[in-house]
Amino acid sequence: MQPEKLSGQERELKESEIISTRTDHRGVITFINPMFTKVTGFTKEDAIGKPHNLIRHPDVPRCVYKLLWDEIKQGNKFFAVTKNRCKNGDHYWTLGYFQAETNKDGEITGFRSTRHGLHDPKLKKDFDQLYKQVREEELQYPRPQQIDAGMELLYKLLKKRGFDQYEAFAKQAL
Ligand SMILES: Cc1cc2nc3c(=O)[nH]c(=O)nc-3n(C[C@H](O)[C@H](O)[C@H](O)COP(=O)(O)O)c2cc1C
Repeated sequence: MQPEKLSGQERELKESEIISTRTDHRGVITFINPMFTKVTGFTKEDAIGKPHNLIRHPDVPRCVYKLLWDEIKQGNKFFAVTKNRCKNGDHYWTLGYFQAETNKDGEITGFRSTRHGLHDPKLKKDFDQLYKQVREEELQYPRPQQIDAGMELLYKLLKKRGFDQYEAFAKQAL
């Protein structure tokens, strides 16, 4: 299964379209709801057993995923805005709520995400600009330095917008 090239076309989510996924402790997909397939075009056969970066869009900075993983691996909940790709190459924006799942001993067994669309066009445009700028910065550096370089610019740009924390910025999409 080879996904199509990116089309640049946005697939807007309706208010009623809620996507949820679960992964194991490494981020390998273990569950998708029917809405995931409706929006992305990836079926259970396509997605289950694949790393969640199956739907990664190249515009999203690596440092955003670093922030996400650092929090959820510690058992903290996290909000993040993602631009993801569909199987046919279109993309869609969501605000996701990410959290760990634990067993009765409190050990992390996997992770879960629930998301809805980004409905404010101004906010979507701002995220698009922010992510593209930060991702371009990351790509100026060799891979081992990309996340640090991206993080530095991300926080500089968030500060300009009056935010000290990424998550507070993302929560504007709530
Ligand atoms: C529950 C959960 C949901 C995730 N959802 C997404 C997602 O929607 N899009 C995405 O690109 N990465 C998602 N990730 C993060 C990926 O595991 C991965 O870190 C990210 O795509 C960066 O991939 P890369 O390291 O290949 O750049 C999710 C991770 C978890 C644990």
